[in-house]
Amino acid sequence: MKYFRKILHFAKPYKRFAWLNIIANIFYALFGTLAFVSLMPMLKVLFDNSTKITEPPVYEGISHVGDYFEGYMNYFITQKIESSGELYALMIMISIVIATFLLKNLSGYLAMFFITFLRNGVLKDLRNAVYEKTVALPVSYYSEKRKGDTIARISTDVLEIQHSFLSILELIVREPLMILFTIIAMLILSAKLTLFVFIFIPVSGFIISRIGKSLKKRSTRVQQEQGFFLSILEETLGGLKIIKGFNAEKMFNEKFQQSTARFFKYSNALMHRQNLASPISEFLGIVVIAILLWFGGSMVLVEKTLAPEAFIVYMGLAYNILTPAKAISKASYGVKKGNAAAERVLEILETESSIKDKNNATVKKDFEDAITLNDVSFKYEDDWVLKNFSLKVPKGSTVALVGQSGSGKSTIANLLTRFYDVNEGNIAIDNANIKDITLHSLRGLMGLVTQDSILFNDTVKGNLRVAKEDASDEEIIDALKVANAWEFVQGLPQGIDTNIGDSGNKLSGGQKQRLSIARAVLKNPPIMILDEATSALDTESERLVQDALENMMKNRTSVVIAHRLSTIQSADNIVVLSKGSIVEQGKHHELLAKKGTYYNLVEMQSLA
Ligand SMILES: Nc1ncnc2c1ncn2[C@@H]1O[C@H](COP(=O)(O)OP(=O)(O)OP(=O)(O)O)[C@@H](O)[C@H]1O
Ligand SMILES: [Mg+2]
Repeated sequence: MKYFRKILHFAKPYKRFAWLNIIANIFYALFGTLAFVSLMPMLKVLFDNSTKITEPPVYEGISHVGDYFEGYMNYFITQKIESSGELYALMIMISIVIATFLLKNLSGYLAMFFITFLRNGVLKDLRNAVYEKTVALPVSYYSEKRKGDTIARISTDVLEIQHSFLSILELIVREPLMILFTIIAMLILSAKLTLFVFIFIPVSGFIISRIGKSLKKRSTRVQQEQGFFLSILEETLGGLKIIKGFNAEKMFNEKFQQSTARFFKYSNALMHRQNLASPISEFLGIVVIAILLWFGGSMVLVEKTLAPEAFIVYMGLAYNILTPAKAISKASYGVKKGNAAAERVLEILETESSIKDKNNATVKKDFEDAITLNDVSFKYEDDWVLKNFSLKVPKGSTVALVGQSGSGKSTIANLLTRFYDVNEGNIAIDNANIKDITLHSLRGLMGLVTQDSILFNDTVKGNLRVAKEDASDEEIIDALKVANAWEFVQGLPQGIDTNIGDSGNKLSGGQKQRLSIARAVLKNPPIMILDEATSALDTESERLVQDALENMMKNRTSVVIAHRLSTIQSADNIVVLSKGSIVEQGKHHELLAKKGTYYNLVEMQSLA
């Protein structure tokens, strides 16, 4: 249970609800037992079996508490029957039965009432914690993980944990108390018979624990499959156009069905195990009851040491013990499943982010001099993507990176923003290694336009406000104007309050690009990092986007990754990359004069 124990920490703020639940459960167990015992006087009146006692009995200590209790009951019944008749006495007894059952159920409800706050509170806090961690983990974490798996952990696994919190309190408080009180009542009624019950408990406990053994493994498998299945769903929704366009529906259906078939198999195995618990414990219980019936029956019939109504109530209590025993076995499965889920959730929560602030990281507010890459080498996996790469970007200048696809241009943007850390060498801003300044202040200095425009399902305004939370409408419109986006946004049905759809899919490619440029403009950072989209735009929108970029680069330090070479003709330094190294650099006309790689790239593009 070690994972679950760690999760318990999340219940701390709700401790008082746990206490209230425990108190209510004590009453629940107490009234639950009394409810059965209260049947006894009713039966006594009904069978007209009470010894007539006219004097109240004397209390003779705890060992005779049963006799005292019975004596007092007889006295009470005798009095009532004498004063008001048998039916009236019966009614009083029935009222007592009703009252105890009412109190039992009321306490039961209160117990659930309090625990609900704890369970849902833990659910809320745990989800928040996992979400916060999900956002905090580095980009690289997700290149290996399936998104659906993370979604499953934050949704179903956390829910599983929420369920198990109910189980744990049932397990350690409610049902043991119920058993304890019932056993006390049984001991009072007949100590001899109760010995059999004591034999039953460890035997059934052993059998139940055997069933529970392999439950965690099965449960983990089920949850894993759930993650896989959500991944397929997530990818399907994202790639619907491709699936349809390539007639791949069948392939995806099959992939999905394979996953659900596995889920079917695994969860059948899990549920079969779980379902075994209650029939087994019920059957074990009835075997014990049968033995009790035999011995108890002979006590009533032959020995006459037990009153019939006491025997009926006793049997009721003995059967009543089965319910908590069953509940305990079920709850222990609940906790086991919770433990499996907790392991999966903790895996995220306990992942140390590889990219995080150093303890003594400083805050860098301004950019004054230059960005320098010194002998940087970097690999994502096994192959070096950048090798001994050095570059200086002085303040106020525009440096353009050009080169073949896969030459490492976007990688440089990833390193500057510390989405990844360099393997060798260093990157510095004004001589401060970017690893020594806080991530927040580093990224605060930079505006980012990614190669694929990343937009959210929100309004135009909402999307821009990602850059500046409290931006006014005027500021937003100004940014849109700089990015050449105001004209089309103005034409949208609700202007800047128009929802742009999932990932901005209600907009054209060029419009999306201009919105993401506007977002960077709104942030107004000293350094712009611009990974120009490769998607071909028509001449009109190309011109619009290009103007937008030029507007944006004005008076700023920019690192531009360009695919359309026309964009960067006026750059202060054009760096030509090939396989992660610089092959040429210089101004546009210098590089043209060289008739080298750059010249060839320009030639190719003008031909196209
Ligand atoms: N997350 C990643 N994990 C592993 N390898 C990666 C990852 N991202 C990129 N690569 C590899 O790194 C190399 C450089 O990729 P990069 O994205 O920097 O190219 P690029 O110059 O931006 O290309 P393009 O012009 O097509 O955008 C490629 O060979 C690519 O396969
Ligand atoms: Mg790229």
